[in-house]
Amino acid sequence: MEEVKTIGVVGAGQMGSGIAQLAAVNGFQVWLLDADPKALTMATNSISNSLQRLASKGQLSQAVIGDALKRLHCTSNLKDFGTADFVVEAIAESEVVKKNLFVELDKITKASAILASNTSSISITRLASVTNRPHQVIGMHFMNPPPIMKLVEIIRGAATSDETYNATKSLAERFGKTVVCSKDYSGFIVNRILMPMINEAFFTLYTGVATKEDIDAGMKLGTNQPMGPLELADFIGLDVCLSILRVLHAGLGDAKYAPCPLLVQYVDAGRCGRKSGVGVYDYRQVSKSTKQAARL
Ligand SMILES: NC(=O)c1ccc[n+]([C@@H]2O[C@H](COP(=O)([O-])OP(=O)(O)OC[C@H]3O[C@@H](n4cnc5c(N)ncnc54)[C@H](O)[C@@H]3O)[C@@H](O)[C@H]2O)c1
Repeated sequence: MEEVKTIGVVGAGQMGSGIAQLAAVNGFQVWLLDADPKALTMATNSISNSLQRLASKGQLSQAVIGDALKRLHCTSNLKDFGTADFVVEAIAESEVVKKNLFVELDKITKASAILASNTSSISITRLASVTNRPHQVIGMHFMNPPPIMKLVEIIRGAATSDETYNATKSLAERFGKTVVCSKDYSGFIVNRILMPMINEAFFTLYTGVATKEDIDAGMKLGTNQPMGPLELADFIGLDVCLSILRVLHAGLGDAKYAPCPLLVQYVDAGRCGRKSGVGVYDYRQVSKSTKQAARL
């Protein structure tokens, strides 16, 4: 397996932009691709802002930031991934959409390249099955936001080789992350445990047990979590949470994973959380009042 020098990241949303940032700061050449040109512009801005925040805390120098930004290349042409040694996919949490991408990546990337998915829940074995290199396909699940969170969960598909696992683990460690390894069952470790908690928080709200504020305060102060489960769901994206719960429900076949109707309704209404301005909480009010305060 070749030494990893160039990393391709597909999907420039919350996760892909953070993974691209991590890779660029840690000395890799990075190609960042998105189907939506606006997402690439937003990603470039959010990466620059995030790097400047780290600089203001004394965690990065301006020289490191300048070098990292020079190594980061945005593209909308998958052919640019021909030079990639390692690809991380962070597009929509849909098996069909991800499989289509893996078919294309398998054709375009060099034979030695590892194809990793940042999926939160979808079977790595099934994504690998559409390629001619299932032994080089793996799950590399970063937490949100990737530059800050310490964990990378690695998921071995049925055919993932030891060589692929070791190369992925080394890469995660070069990013400064701690690795845990999961077998390939829906939701892996973190979301298998986290999503039922978030779903139960929705049921608690749906059945009128308590207000959203009290549910979040109860879990924050009562179980020492930095964010309440509803606030966390907004941060992750309610659409992402719903997709993961559907994968858990279908993959593990237990009714306890069925998504709460309130979560389904919020997503149907376009309330996807922070990224859409409204989810369980309304962030538009916050930004309006912040802007008003800034004007005063
Ligand atoms: N949000 C989280 O907290 C979180 C945490 C860990 C893992 N994940 C996983 O990471 C992945 C991405 O999640 P996200 O929150 O960054 O989503 P997001 O909606 O913020 O970003 C997804 C991006 O992918 C792009 N995209 C979609 N289909 C594409 C395609 N075929 N080709 C190129 N670009 C395409 C979209 O334009 C969008 O910019 C999902 O699989 C999700 O389950 C999310």
